[in-house]
Amino acid sequence: MSSENLDRGLVMDAVRVTEIAAIAAWKLVGRGDEKAADQAAVDAMRTALNDLDIDGEIVIGEGERDEAPMLYIGEKVGRGSGPAIDIALDPLEGTTLTAKAQANALAVMAWAPKGSLLNAPDTYMDKIACGPGYPPGVIDLDKTPAENVKTLAEAKGVELSEITVCVLDRPRHAEIIASVRSVGARVYLITDGDVAGVINTADPTTGVDLYVGQGGAPEGVLACAALKCVGGQFQGRLVFRNHDEKARAARVGITDLDKKYDLHEMVRADAIFAATGVTNGALLDGVTYEDGFVHTHTLVMNSSTRTVREVRMKRAV
Ligand code: FBP
Repeated sequence: MSSENLDRGLVMDAVRVTEIAAIAAWKLVGRGDEKAADQAAVDAMRTALNDLDIDGEIVIGEGERDEAPMLYIGEKVGRGSGPAIDIALDPLEGTTLTAKAQANALAVMAWAPKGSLLNAPDTYMDKIACGPGYPPGVIDLDKTPAENVKTLAEAKGVELSEITVCVLDRPRHAEIIASVRSVGARVYLITDGDVAGVINTADPTTGVDLYVGQGGAPEGVLACAALKCVGGQFQGRLVFRNHDEKARAARVGITDLDKKYDLHEMVRADAIFAATGVTNGALLDGVTYEDGFVHTHTLVMNSSTRTVREVRMKRAV
């Protein structure tokens, strides 16, 4: 599939898929049941995908075949006709956020031509990202957070105190947080959802300049698909805590365990990225219900046409 095939039809198909997953998850917002919310989103997304004229394969999904009955890595979806595409998805990014009715839960998906998305194992990844408009190499995973803040502030032409760094609020990030604060920059802590955390760096209205920290590797691929569309820089390195996680990497063909990936190694061709808000957040409004209609808010981007659309949908229920 060439980049020309990432056409408008596919863009709207992607929107419908994340909308349906978000609506399914929204029904379980605040009910304290993470698993049920995730399952509802998975079921809905899978049904929607199987209704499309695509020859899709899940590259980033719910887990390996023996642990995920649906949307497992390697599962074929779609009617089998149409373009051959790699699919990365997280039907519910922010299961805990949804269960607790907290901000920033999303239904997320990315599409790219077959063979062009990194088959990332379900492990952690060290990540650093910034938005567009900076010289190549402005961020480097091998430098300290403080050093990255300094380089970015210089490139942006602002004081260190004007830089905001988004970090997942986890004990493992204590050193990162201390390093950022040591040079006077701000830390914007999020409780979950680092796909949105990375995308926020490319959206000046969020005030976030830099994302740093360790989160899921699958979420890293999804975030890269989004940055591929809007510009920005990303570096990631897989983190292995045990032999099982190394075995996961081997099963998806990764041999260099220390490799530092950049954006274009994680998403090697043009991509479509779609995200629908489940709960309200900086990026998107959540699903709402009013007078017999359900309302959704979706961001959809196409790197081949460099378009970013916001889609608001209203459907009678
Ligand atoms: P789920 O909703 O799929 O559980 O992921 C939420 C999330 O916050 C991701 O955005 C992030 O990459 C990962 O979890 C971080 O993992 P952990 O909660 O183990 O620190």
